[in-house]
Amino acid sequence: MNVKTVAIAADHGGVELKSTIISALKDRGIEVFDLGTNSSESVDYPDYAKVVAQSIIEGKSDAGILVCGSGIGMSIAANRYPEIRAALAHDRLSATLSRQHNNANVLCLGARLVGDLLALDCIDAFLSTEFEGGRHALRVAKMS
Ligand code: RB5
Repeated sequence: MNVKTVAIAADHGGVELKSTIISALKDRGIEVFDLGTNSSESVDYPDYAKVVAQSIIEGKSDAGILVCGSGIGMSIAANRYPEIRAALAHDRLSATLSRQHNNANVLCLGARLVGDLLALDCIDAFLSTEFEGGRHALRVAKMS
């Protein structure tokens, strides 16, 4: 995926991992839109999934990253938007397959379940893997 801009957001459970991810993305030369949250005060993950989804839908971002405690709430919330294909990944292969087979445009991570290095490995796979198209494109189209 040719990603130049990434929208990222987290709830209170993912705010620290979000900072680590933003540094890594900037090191890759990617423009990052940090859409919050930026404190440990409790917030609601659907609000943050929404702003990242909107950024992609409006064409401001090529891809999105969402972090919460488990990654589950963010993935459920983000997939409410028809244009969004959000994948929850806890390992490099899942992140790779989310691109190859599902053309995922949002990666969800669970900050309480994965360490920093594993999270960054998932992001590397997500950003560097192309959609394979073909039979997978037909399946992805059926979801639209
Ligand atoms: C917040 O405590 C937690 O529920 C949230 O980060 C996430 O794990 C929800 O799916």
